[in-house]
Amino acid sequence: MNPVFLLRLGLDFLAVGLFMAALAYWWMDNRAHELIGTGMFALLFLHNIFNRRWYAGIPRMRRQAKPLVTFGLNLTLLVTMMTLLATSVLISQSLFGFLAIGGPDARDIHILAAYWALVIVSIHLGRHWAIVMNVVRSLCGVRRPRIERTVLLRLMTTAIAACGVYSCFELAIGSRLLLIPTMQFWDFNEDAAGFFLRIGSVAGLYVAVGHYGVTAIQAFRRGRPLSRHRCGGKGRAGSDMTVPSPIPLNQQRT
Ligand code: HEM
Repeated sequence: MNPVFLLRLGLDFLAVGLFMAALAYWWMDNRAHELIGTGMFALLFLHNIFNRRWYAGIPRMRRQAKPLVTFGLNLTLLVTMMTLLATSVLISQSLFGFLAIGGPDARDIHILAAYWALVIVSIHLGRHWAIVMNVVRSLCGVRRPRIERTVLLRLMTTAIAACGVYSCFELAIGSRLLLIPTMQFWDFNEDAAGFFLRIGSVAGLYVAVGHYGVTAIQAFRRGRPLSRHRCGGKGRAGSDMTVPSPIPLNQQRT
């Protein structure tokens, strides 16, 4: 497998890890939070450079199988991340303190953008989950689908999604997404690992939503004669990160 491709995927997962670490604000001091967040934005910048063909492909997007979903989701992600970046600079206390002019509103918007980014990044990852699965299959030398493995993976996905729903209540994700003040704060002195398990399961829930959402849209479109022509299997315009699956398309189950 192409090592540059693997490196890119590794950097993307590192960015996701840094993002989740930044969400654990009260686990660290402000300087560490700002350093982690800035590192995540540097990787995000690289991610956009590597995937710049998506921007170039926007004019041709009408001919794609899922143009509206792709464009809408990526645009929302872009706006959310830009908001998070702008408010980061506005409220910075350590790294960009000399630029900081933000007040209480900027802080609220920073937190709002951070939790919306958690949801949208996870759905974005779910949309590309087939690529991740193809890499894992290749690395593990999996050549044929096996029903037992598929059932096991789907059971695991269901369990993670169920934990995600539970964790949404525990972490008051709904209130944070709607900017409703909440007194639910995680006690990192008590259980720091528990926070990451919960935030990871919330991400897993939305990865599943993204992955199975795409699968459902594709199934729906395949049912229509016009979309069969459109889904001709040429791959996504603007995405150069497709990996040929070691399993033939008609035998893939995940
Ligand atoms: C991955 C990107 C980031 C995420 C997900 C994120 C998330 C958060 C969250 C959730 C909080 C609030 C914690 C709470 O009060 O419950 C917070 C606070 C804060 N963040 Fe970020 N952040 C990110 C990047 C940054 C960056 C790059 C900077 C500055 C360079 C920054 C500066 C701050 C500051 C100063 C606060 C404290 C605000 C206050 O208590 O007055 N953040 N961040």
